[in-house]
Amino acid sequence: MTTTITITGAGGQIGYALLFRIAAGDLLGPDEKVRFRLLEIPQGLAAAEGAALELQDGAFGLLQHVEVTDDPAVGFDGADLALLVGARPRGPGMERADLLAANAGIFGPQGAAIAANAASGVRVTVVGNPANTNALIAAASAEGLPAERFTALTRLDENRARAQLALTLGTPVETVRRVPIWGNHSATQFPDISHATVGGEPVAAALEQIVGDVPAWLDQTFIPRVAKRGAEIIEVRGSSSVASAANAAIDHVRDWVHGTEDWTSAGVVSHGEYGVPEGLISSFPVRSVDGEWQIVEGLELSDFARGRIDASVAELVEEREAVRSLGML
Ligand code: NAD
Ligand code: LMR
Repeated sequence: MTTTITITGAGGQIGYALLFRIAAGDLLGPDEKVRFRLLEIPQGLAAAEGAALELQDGAFGLLQHVEVTDDPAVGFDGADLALLVGARPRGPGMERADLLAANAGIFGPQGAAIAANAASGVRVTVVGNPANTNALIAAASAEGLPAERFTALTRLDENRARAQLALTLGTPVETVRRVPIWGNHSATQFPDISHATVGGEPVAAALEQIVGDVPAWLDQTFIPRVAKRGAEIIEVRGSSSVASAANAAIDHVRDWVHGTEDWTSAGVVSHGEYGVPEGLISSFPVRSVDGEWQIVEGLELSDFARGRIDASVAELVEEREAVRSLGML
């Protein structure tokens, strides 16, 4: 079988980091052939065409075809998977929500083009910021497609959280599990260690040995480090994260398609779980079962966790109001 994958913004930084890994089989495995549809705006076409030439030169056995276009109807034609990356990145001193005015206008028309042209089972992952609210806009514009098909990338935040815990504990990152992100892909996000384990044991006890006062460390060190990591990368690198973002997008889509053994994090539509208003695209602890994300339900939340989640969700509500006032919802 061949999977048709649309990547918007394929001429940009993250697009370039995604294409070659997907063509090499990192997303769907060594047996699944792929067909790329690279959607750009006119200014980005040359870069996407150049990437397409390099894909030829990669002589990837799995890669069947590459189409470069600035026409959304062509770009989303028959798409089984769509990665909506094309959007402006933020620069130093900006918050991701500052991108709403610049980027929100992209996602309504793309949602409509997906509904009109993609495969009926299409699965959409929004990477472009502010990712949660852009996914909300795309879902709202995609008549006939369930909102469950539209997700926002928060896996990068989870990967960052697990990596910071592993560094602190001096343990391999794969031993650290169950560190979900709640809320918005923004500085208000809540990386939650209350259910986290290291080598199968609760993480809190191991952390106490190293950091002493765990609640203070979470509040003053861990949570801000993870939540502001995007800004730290921008400050150090001069531009926003690229390869780690592409890596997380691959993790997210691979797990969506192939399933998960344990929890992970994704921005998915709320049906009211944990008091998150229905319809918002919020990050939750999720599992992927039979090709669908399922929110992990029934977790006990401390007052601290509840307060953090409420604050991030309040920001999502504000973003929804802002795009409503821009006439995009
Ligand atoms: P970039 O500027 O290098 O590339 C963006 C590309 O998108 C450009 O080639 C541009 O021409 C194209 N584009 C713009 N509007 C488009 C449209 N309407 N249709 C198709 N293509 C369009 O930026 P980048 O570094 O690749 O980042 C892309 C986005 O991803 C940014 O919004 C960034 O903030 C976001 N991002 C999100 C995460 C996350 O974890 N969710 C992580 C990193 C970056
Ligand atoms: C990130 O988390 O690295 C991206 O969302 C880019 C940004 O603006 O921080």
